[in-house]
Amino acid sequence: MAKLAPSVLGADFTRLGEDIADCTRLNVDLLHLDIMDGHFVPNISFGPAIVKTINGLTDRFLDVHLMLAEPEKYFEAFAKAGADLITFHLEVHPDPVPVAKQLRDLGVQTGLSINPDKPVEEVLPYLKHFDLLLLMSVFPGFGGQKFIGETIPKIETARSYIDSNNLSCEIEVDGGIDGDNAATVSNAGADILVMGTGFFGSNDRAGLTKMVQGL
Ligand code: DX5
Ligand code: ZN
Repeated sequence: MAKLAPSVLGADFTRLGEDIADCTRLNVDLLHLDIMDGHFVPNISFGPAIVKTINGLTDRFLDVHLMLAEPEKYFEAFAKAGADLITFHLEVHPDPVPVAKQLRDLGVQTGLSINPDKPVEEVLPYLKHFDLLLLMSVFPGFGGQKFIGETIPKIETARSYIDSNNLSCEIEVDGGIDGDNAATVSNAGADILVMGTGFFGSNDRAGLTKMVQGL
C-alpha cells in the first residue's frame, strides 16, 4: 500500500481549482506543496497565500516541502495557512531536533529532507524525532527532472533502519517518479510517492492513482 502525493508544482495554474478538485475526487492521500525561495534552490514558487487557497479547496492532507534557506521564519505562516506537515532540509539545519520542536509546538507534523548528494546515514539518527523522512531523488528546484537511481539504496537503508528501530517515521520520495518507476521506488521501501509531472501530465490520473495505491 503506497500513498500518492501529487506535487501541485506540476499542476496547470490556469486551472488550479480543477486540478485540485481532481485530486480530491480521486482520493489521493496527500497534496505535496513545494515552496522555493530562490536562495536554497535556484527557483521561486509560491507562498502561504496559495497554500491557504488550496486548503480551502480540498480536505486532503497538506504536505508542505520548504526549500528555504531560513524555513523557521515561515513555519507559523504555513501552519496558519493549513499545512498538516512541514518538511525542512537537514542541509540548512544540521541540528534539526530543536527545529522539529518548533513545528510540533505549532501543532503540525514534522518532516526532514536530504538532497541526493547527502549520505542517508547522516539523517538516520534524527528520525525518531520526525514523522517523515523526505528523500530527494532529484536536486530540488524544478519539476520534470529525471529520477536519480542512486536513491534506491538510500530508501532501502532508511527502511531497514526505521523497521529495526520500530520508528513510526514514514519515507517519502520526491522527484522524477512516474507510472514506470513507481513500483521500484515502493518496493525499495518508500511509503509515499511524490509525483508532479508524472501525475498531472498523465492522461489516466485515475488509473495511476489506483496503481500506486495498490502497490
Ligand atoms: C523538486 C520538487 C518536487 C517536484 C517533483 O524541486 O521538490 O516535489 O515538484 O516534480 P516531478 O515529479 O515532476 O519531478
Ligand atoms: Zn517537493
